[in-house]
Amino acid sequence: MELLRLEEFETAARPRLPPDVWDYLQGGSGTESTLTANLHAFKRIMVRPRVLAGISPPDLGITLLGSPLDLPVVIAPTAFQRLVHPDGEVAAAAAARQAGTLFTASTFASRTFEEIAAAAGGSWWFQVYWLRQRDVLRRMLRRAAGAGCQALMLTVDTPHVGRRLRDIRNRFTLPPGVHAVNVESSVMTEAHEHDPGSCWLHQQVTHEIDPAITWADLAWLRAQTPLPLMLKGIVTAEDTVLAIEHGIDAIVVSNHGGRQLDGAIASMDALPEVVTAAAGRVPVLVDGGVRSGTDVFRALALGAHAVLVGRPVIWGLAHGGAAGVSAVLKLLRDELSEVMTLAGRSRLTDIDATAVRTVPW
Ligand SMILES: Cc1cc2nc3c(=O)[nH]c(=O)nc-3n(C[C@H](O)[C@H](O)[C@H](O)COP(=O)(O)O)c2cc1C
Repeated sequence: MELLRLEEFETAARPRLPPDVWDYLQGGSGTESTLTANLHAFKRIMVRPRVLAGISPPDLGITLLGSPLDLPVVIAPTAFQRLVHPDGEVAAAAAARQAGTLFTASTFASRTFEEIAAAAGGSWWFQVYWLRQRDVLRRMLRRAAGAGCQALMLTVDTPHVGRRLRDIRNRFTLPPGVHAVNVESSVMTEAHEHDPGSCWLHQQVTHEIDPAITWADLAWLRAQTPLPLMLKGIVTAEDTVLAIEHGIDAIVVSNHGGRQLDGAIASMDALPEVVTAAAGRVPVLVDGGVRSGTDVFRALALGAHAVLVGRPVIWGLAHGGAAGVSAVLKLLRDELSEVMTLAGRSRLTDIDATAVRTVPW
């Protein structure tokens, strides 16, 4: 069957994956209220189409942190992509390249930076978790920069991994052959007590990430590399102001796809205050619940420069490797192009606050 909505990729992906892997991908933390809120928040934002606008084919191009993109949709960092397809990150990076956009490699990518860089054609970003062992982190940053990554995205919403109940119940662990190949093995295999009430993977990851870092530590990261630095996981005006005061180059409004603080504000509900606080000084990106080209349009109307997509890329990857991810990105492109045409906006910069109205649910 031809897949005509992103949710149809979700349905197509599910039977291809073991139930515990599916739960790991789909799940959120706690009651999954933030996961649900991310999706619902988009539905309250209705488009105000303008007519007789003399639309020629819409221009979806944008330059982000010096990288020219053919569409304002970037692949979000998601860990261990070989869980769903043997090619893993290499397939998704190749699809990003084909679509004229960027791939973001997770700290916990399951293919090497060098393989990802080759597939992405040099257009990729590196998502950083602040590892406890700074010398290991330093070497990792050097390797990513050496492989040509164009910017760093430090994830700041994960001083500790959220309680994802599905994974705890499933005692989720990585299958043989899937691991974080860019993290030095000394870090990954360090002995620690396994708490039987928890999930091995989350314990392992919590064990590796430094929960104690503060704004003051960003100077250290800055000193390691001249690459542009984004913070991912900002949802308040206060932290936006602090980020800009600390010289951050871009903000990613995100609650980690509802996987960290359950009850945290939906990304689209947080976006306006971050955009206002940023006041045009740095680009603002957003992720969490983007499931259509209309959702991309809605995010841009509320002031985002671009969006990231997480789970839909994984569904495409599970469904058909690089071709599946390409199909997901093409669908988003076609839908965004259509909504721009029907809403009377030829360029991304025409998608302003007047393009939507938020209605009560
Ligand atoms: C399976 C999975 C793994 C993820 N791994 C990471 C990660 O390694 N680093 C990170 O910063 N965010 C990670 N995220 C969060 C995504 O980058 C992104 O914020 C989220 O998926 C966006 O929501 P969406 O899935 O609704 O598009 C992960 C998300 C999922 C679903």
